[in-house]
Formats: sequence, structure tokens, C-alpha cells
Amino acid sequence: MRSYGCQMNVYDAARMTDLLAQEGYAAASREEDAELVVLNTCHIREKAAEKIYSELGRLAELKKERRAEGRNFEIVVAGCVAQAEGELVMRRQRAVDLVVGPQSYHRLPALLKEAREGARVVDTDFAVLEKFQTLPAPTRPQIAARGVSAFVTVQEGCDKFCSFCVVPYTRGAEISRKVEDVLKEARRLVDGGVREIVLIGQNVNAYRGEDEAGRATPLEGLFERLSEFKELTRLRYTTSHPVDMTQGLIDAHGSLEKLAPFVHLPVQSGSDRVLKEMNRRHDARLYLDAIEKLRRARPDIAISSDFIVGFPGETEADFEATLALIDAVGFASSFFFKYSPRPGTPGAERSDQIDEVIKRERLARLEARVEAPRRDFNAGMVGRTVEVLFEKRGRHVGQIAGKSPYMQAVHVEGDEREIGRLRSVRIVAAGSNSLSGEIVEAREFA
Ligand code: 5AD
Ligand code: SF4
Repeated sequence: MRSYGCQMNVYDAARMTDLLAQEGYAAASREEDAELVVLNTCHIREKAAEKIYSELGRLAELKKERRAEGRNFEIVVAGCVAQAEGELVMRRQRAVDLVVGPQSYHRLPALLKEAREGARVVDTDFAVLEKFQTLPAPTRPQIAARGVSAFVTVQEGCDKFCSFCVVPYTRGAEISRKVEDVLKEARRLVDGGVREIVLIGQNVNAYRGEDEAGRATPLEGLFERLSEFKELTRLRYTTSHPVDMTQGLIDAHGSLEKLAPFVHLPVQSGSDRVLKEMNRRHDARLYLDAIEKLRRARPDIAISSDFIVGFPGETEADFEATLALIDAVGFASSFFFKYSPRPGTPGAERSDQIDEVIKRERLARLEARVEAPRRDFNAGMVGRTVEVLFEKRGRHVGQIAGKSPYMQAVHVEGDEREIGRLRSVRIVAAGSNSLSGEIVEAREFA
């Protein structure tokens, strides 16, 4: 099982693994040992999508070798490339046995059977609710093997139609899972040893799931319910849209102790003109107001964002507006991308595409601009004591690693038994990508 792209794909890959385990499969650590390879693909930018075809070329060779040895070797293309390109995947690479989209992978066992009977199977139905109803729950060993922090998809799809983005086409319309379903899944994870739950969705803060009484419940309603799980030490969510940052969710950052002081809130651009052409449905002011309100509710909150440079028609002045917004916010971390025209999206149709050289130059300038606040933010942690949830062994012997409330990686010298625990850690040094510290208190939360 190989997953590319976002957290939603990580979650889907885990669910497909659970489903295949029920069919008698076990995860192979090396491709050479596999009888079935699932590529869970990403279509967000051209580079990600094209990488899949070179991977498939390689797998086709491996399949030929395996077949010559009389061994099984099946290739499944899942995820967003499967959804967006369907049939075309098989036409471009004949060795592919099955193409299955992100909303129909619960049918994998039946589809594999059809493929074995000689059919060329492509399933790209949008059957989201059916999917969640039929997927098996992970077993305890599976949960334990995946660590103390787990994703739970609560919302799928997107109705926003930003003019650069394929997600509304690959993941379909916005759908929220029922509160009860989410709590049941969370309970199982917690019983299996999970201590942090990250609620995920393409537009997670647009979540409106029905509760037991049939009432529409916003995301903070889920956090309130999850806060009652004694063993859960931390709650997070991603990814949010600025227009769905309601006062209720902002207030939850002030009132719910377990809700981490961190929000990933992509803005994409700081120029009102570009934001309008991106169909983002908000201007820079709305974004800055949301940040201000979040900081009022939770003064130490850390903010991260996504940016796109070189959207069609982006002028130097537009780009400078983005830099100004970066300076105004002071992001704790950022992700930035060169605009990639995606087939079927309005942005790709435009005749005012930006030259690759300009895109590259703007990307480098943006990168330089986000670096100083990020470094200052990390350096500012030195001397502070923060709560760290330990997740795994560190790179060196005797070291363990975890995350600060602000999503920073933290290393300490410590016993492996600390993994899964939340500890007070005094930060002693800040590197470029992680912090190091010392456990100061043996307070045990779980
Ligand atoms: N080109 C470049 N970046 C994109 N993103 C989405 N679509 C594109 C595209 N066509 C970026 C956005 C989004 C992140 C997940 O990927 O910044 O927030
Ligand atoms: Fe894509 Fe915009 Fe929807 Fe995010 S909000 S998934 S960027 S269309």
C-alpha cells in the first residue's frame, strides 16, 4: 500500500489496508514481496499525477518478471488520479488491473474478484456514505501499529470550487459523517491506545454532521464530545477554509483545553483581486480578522498556511500583497506551491498563464519571506516549558520524539515507555526543523 498526497489519502490507505486484511492480506514491507500493489494517488498538481505514471512503468516491469516466475502481481490504482482519469489510467498503462476512486474503495474485494475474472474494472462512483457504512474497523494490533496519533475523516469533498483546484471533481460534494459514527470510530481508536485524534476533511470546518437527535452539529460540537474521552490528550483538525472559521469554532480554541493551539488555515494569496479570481469567496481582510479573533480566543495559537504563486494574471503588485500578508500574520509554518494548471478547472483555461521563470522566482522570494518568522517562532520556544505528546523513537538511541502543541517536532533523551504520554518538556535548543528539550515533570495523563 503506497500513499501519496494529503492526510485524507493516509487515512484512506489505512482503511484499505484494514479491508484487505479481512481478505487475508498482510502488508508487505518490500515491493518485491508483494502480490498486490495499491498506489493511492494524488492529483492536486501535475507533478504529483505524472509521478504515478513513472511508478506504474516500473511496476509493469516488476509484474512481467513476477509473471515469468509464475507468481501473482496485481496493480491497483486508487485515489484522486484514479478518480480524475479513470479509463485513461488503463489506456496509458496496460499492466494496471484495477482503477478505483476514493469514494468506492470499500468495494475493493469484489472489484479484485471481477478483475481476476478477466474484466478491466474501473469504479469511480461517488458512494461516500455507503463507503463509511461498509468499511471494517481496524483491529487492535492495526491501531497499535499506527501509533498514538490517528486521523479520523469526518468530512469529505468540497463545494467551494476554487478555480485552481481539482478536489471538488475528484472527491465530490461536501458530505459530513454522523456524530455517532465519528465517536464510535474514535472510541475504538482510543481503546487501542490512540491519544491524539486529528479530525480531517477537505473542508473540515464546514463539517455539519447529524447528532443522535438529528441536529446539525458543527466541528466544535465534535470536539466537545471528544473532550469527554478521558484518555484522549489532544485534538487537532485540518484543513480549514477561512469562510467557515465560525465564532463557535474560534471560541472552542479558548474553552476546550484539549484542542491544540494550532490552525492550518490556507489563504493562497494576499491579493484581493487574485483571491476573487481564485473564487476563494473572501478577501485578505476577512482572513486577517479570523486570525485576530483566533488570537484573542487563544493568544498563543500558531497559524500555518498554504500559498500558491503564479496564479494566472498574478502581477508583481499582487504577489507583493501576499508578502505583506505574510509579514502581517507571522506564520509558524507554511507550504507554498507554484500554480499548476489542472485539466477541467477554470484556471487552466485562462490565457494569462504566468511564465515558469517568474513562478520560480516568486516561489523563492516567498520561501525566503516565510523563513524568518518561522525561525523566530521556533527560537522563541527555547526556555519555555510545553506539553509534548511522545509518538515514536527518535533518530538516535535513547531518544524519543513527539510534537509540541504547536506541531513542532521535539526530541528528548527518554525512555520508550514515554511513547503515548503527554509530558511537560523544557525546550533547550531550536534546530531548523525541530526542537530539543528535557522532560521536567513526570505528570501522567494517560
Ligand atoms: N496548483 C498549485 N497548488 C495547488 N493547490 C491546490 N491546487 C493547486 C494547483 N492547481 C495547493 C493549495 C492547497 C494545497 C493543498 O495545494 O495551496 O491548499
Ligand atoms: Fe480545493 Fe478550494 Fe475546496 Fe480547498 S476549498 S479543496 S482549495 S476547491
